[in-house]
Amino acid sequence: MQKLKLGVIFGGMSTEHDVSVTSGTSVIKNLDKEKYEIYPIYIDSDGKWYEYSKKVDKIDILQVGEKIEEKIAIANPIEYLQECDVIFPVLHGLYGEDGTIQGLLELIKKPYVGCKVLASSICMDKAYSKIIFEKAGINQAKYIYVKISKINNKQNIDTATLKNNYTYVDNNFNEHNSTLEEIANIVEQELSFPTFVKPSNSGSSVGIKKAHNKAELMEAIKYAGKFDKKILIEQNIKGREVECAVLGNDDVKASVVGEILPAEDFYTFDAKYKNAESKVVIPAEISESISDEIRKTAIKAYKSTDCKGLARVDFFIENGTNKVIINEINTLPGFTQISMYPQLWQSMGISYTKLLDKLVELALENK
Ligand SMILES: Nc1ncnc2c1ncn2[C@@H]1O[C@H](COP(=O)(O)OP(=O)(O)O)[C@@H](O)[C@H]1O
Ligand SMILES: [Mg+2]
Repeated sequence: MQKLKLGVIFGGMSTEHDVSVTSGTSVIKNLDKEKYEIYPIYIDSDGKWYEYSKKVDKIDILQVGEKIEEKIAIANPIEYLQECDVIFPVLHGLYGEDGTIQGLLELIKKPYVGCKVLASSICMDKAYSKIIFEKAGINQAKYIYVKISKINNKQNIDTATLKNNYTYVDNNFNEHNSTLEEIANIVEQELSFPTFVKPSNSGSSVGIKKAHNKAELMEAIKYAGKFDKKILIEQNIKGREVECAVLGNDDVKASVVGEILPAEDFYTFDAKYKNAESKVVIPAEISESISDEIRKTAIKAYKSTDCKGLARVDFFIENGTNKVIINEINTLPGFTQISMYPQLWQSMGISYTKLLDKLVELALENK
């Protein structure tokens, strides 16, 4: 039987580059080498493309922060991709999980694993996924949406405009030019502390801060603004954090629910990747009715955002009320062997290697 030529792309230009190196090398390590001829493609942080030239069966899983050493520059990435039958972009964050690489693959008509352009970009952008969740009637944290103006030519802009370079976007998309102080006042009126301040396009908790008072809030908004010009300020949800894996194109399945027990106050970058005290519990110790509600809502969120292939849908279960509240959808969730997504399927009898086969099958079905 001829092997399927599978391009596995990892690394990439986002703040989650290092995480993607771990996910990508995990995928390569676990793929069935009898079935696939693997083309390991590494994109560095500047966007240069390389073939990872280590012998494929010698490729080991790199830990977060470890570097790709053996690599040969790819002169023409499009030609290189054309040689493959199917592509698995194991890229997290911007330029990978946001529809950009998906757009490139559409242009060259290559089947690929995971969501297409629209679902990828909606789910990457927290402000826009919230609009869909609202339309779908899914519970979520109350939030304020703020934009920061890009000021390219300071000379032509008067001081008043410079002061008002924040824009509060209200529920009807009316824009209100504001100062940082005015934004903080709106947040104080609409939400209560603590709040979560997030870049709209982010991942791995990069750029996210919890603000306990007005001063922290203003600092957090400025900080989030370093990562994205679109910012969300959300009501803090006190509750348990749970996640559900979804798999499929039209016939969609949801996994059991897993719980995150972050080692820190919330699930920060360090709590995710550096603190071994963070734990996952699979299946989560929750009632059958809550688990059913989460699984049903995960599928609804997945379909309403037009996801295909795979996604992990994350929720809170609010303390006291047991209300199920969506947090976000990740269209390319962490993919190491100990990551939640593969582990959830593992607990349902689908091994990591079989899961990868299924994802490739779904990619070919959805071309
Ligand atoms: N509204 C909220 N209430 C309570 N905790 C939150 C809230 N939003 C985010 N968090 C915490 O911050 C973490 C990262 O936020 P998230 O929106 O999932 O961003 P990312 O895309 O970077 O994972 C979550 O896993 C959770 O621990
Ligand atoms: Mg998250």
